[in-house]
Amino acid sequence: MDLCIIGSGYVGLVSGACFAEVGHHVICVDNDQKKVDKLQRGEIPIYEPGLEELVHRNVAARRLRFTNSIEDGLDHSQVVFIAVPTPPQSDGSVDLTYIERVAREIAGVLKPGQYRVIVDKSTVPVKTGEKVADTIRRYNKDAEFDVVSNPEFLREGCAVPDLMNPDRIVVGSSSQRATDLMKQIYEPFRAPILVTDLNSAELIKHAANSFLSLKISYINAVAAICEASGADVEMVADGIGMDKRIGRNFLNAGLGYGGSCFPKDVKAFIAISRQLGTPFALLEEVERINATMLDRFIDKVRGALWVLKDKKIAVWGLTFKPDTDDVRNSVAIELVNKLVAEGAQVSAYDPKGAEKAVEWGLIDPTKVRLTKTPADATDGAEALLLATEWKEFANADLAEVKKRMHTPLVFDGRNHFNPETMRQLGFTYYAVGRPAAV
Ligand code: UDX
Repeated sequence: MDLCIIGSGYVGLVSGACFAEVGHHVICVDNDQKKVDKLQRGEIPIYEPGLEELVHRNVAARRLRFTNSIEDGLDHSQVVFIAVPTPPQSDGSVDLTYIERVAREIAGVLKPGQYRVIVDKSTVPVKTGEKVADTIRRYNKDAEFDVVSNPEFLREGCAVPDLMNPDRIVVGSSSQRATDLMKQIYEPFRAPILVTDLNSAELIKHAANSFLSLKISYINAVAAICEASGADVEMVADGIGMDKRIGRNFLNAGLGYGGSCFPKDVKAFIAISRQLGTPFALLEEVERINATMLDRFIDKVRGALWVLKDKKIAVWGLTFKPDTDDVRNSVAIELVNKLVAEGAQVSAYDPKGAEKAVEWGLIDPTKVRLTKTPADATDGAEALLLATEWKEFANADLAEVKKRMHTPLVFDGRNHFNPETMRQLGFTYYAVGRPAAV
């Protein structure tokens, strides 16, 4: 099928590449000419395992191309996906100006007799699809189209495998013609397709991400009780996770959730539920618990080092999770900046995120020493803090690290190390929600 995707960010670019991989012809549209130029030169603006090969292969096979023209995209596609940013506003509600602008632009180029399915893939509050349809109709009364909601559930760091093997495809549509086309697009993915009305599909995305955030805050609250009582949250999570109704996924205690989805989506769901007159207070508690995790962690470091000013502290990890270079809303970055604000001398290492952290002004390289290897960050350190669970850290030469450190204190913010191994290596090891192994 001929598809067009407006917006070449994480969702748009990965979706475009995966649709092309299963045989569709895809045009990715972006209004950022620099990004389009880069993509046309074969440069991928984001780091995502497997994406580069996928893009190169499908461009070479002429199934994938990039343009800045919405008209070009719409003229050559039956189905048009919208995958533009929906950033948060200061009150937590979603800024829908990019979506509205794209709807107007689509209205401006849709020609009479040119039926198109307009699919919203961006994460939006319930009832946005209705507004997109109204807007297109208002600016082009002859337009023939249906609006469909098709939320995307990919995770950063495993976006390609997530998209190629989804648990489910959600299609919110009230038109049989549009639904049939959507089923055709997704047929090669061999995943169950749930067809709902437009509003339900939009709500599924916010409800799913909020539920996963709730699971994380739940286990983090349990971790605090474990710390107070001497229980081990990893065992508790295993024990409750073995109940199939609960499941072990997303029960990893640590520094809390970050990234560009969970914090934003929980806030947006709180905002939309309030706007609809049905406030969702439970989610406010989810946010509150999440916000306490970092302070609890720093308190633990303070508890051991007493004063942080002038202390040499190594931090491993800057990205909001492993296998990505994304440092937006990263708890690790917040940790580094809080330590710097308290006067600590911080050395940090991240396999992928350091460059972007500096480029985006999230870390001041004059105040934080960024190192080329994890061990270098630990030279003379009085404590090592693990903030992101990159595999590289579990495989690091910890005996060497111990030699390089001034005092062998390790604070593991993601329960990434084995406490027994750490003890045998001679570290004083603190995890989250686990008894300290001294
Ligand atoms: C999330 C959703 O998983 C995905 O379906 C949606 O499309 C976008 O938002 P993503 O933000 O890429 O994906 O990452 P995810 O792996 O879900 O992790 C989000 C955050 O939660 C990370 O900061 C991670 O460290 C944290 N997390 C995750 C935990 O603290 N504990 C867990 O058990 C799982």
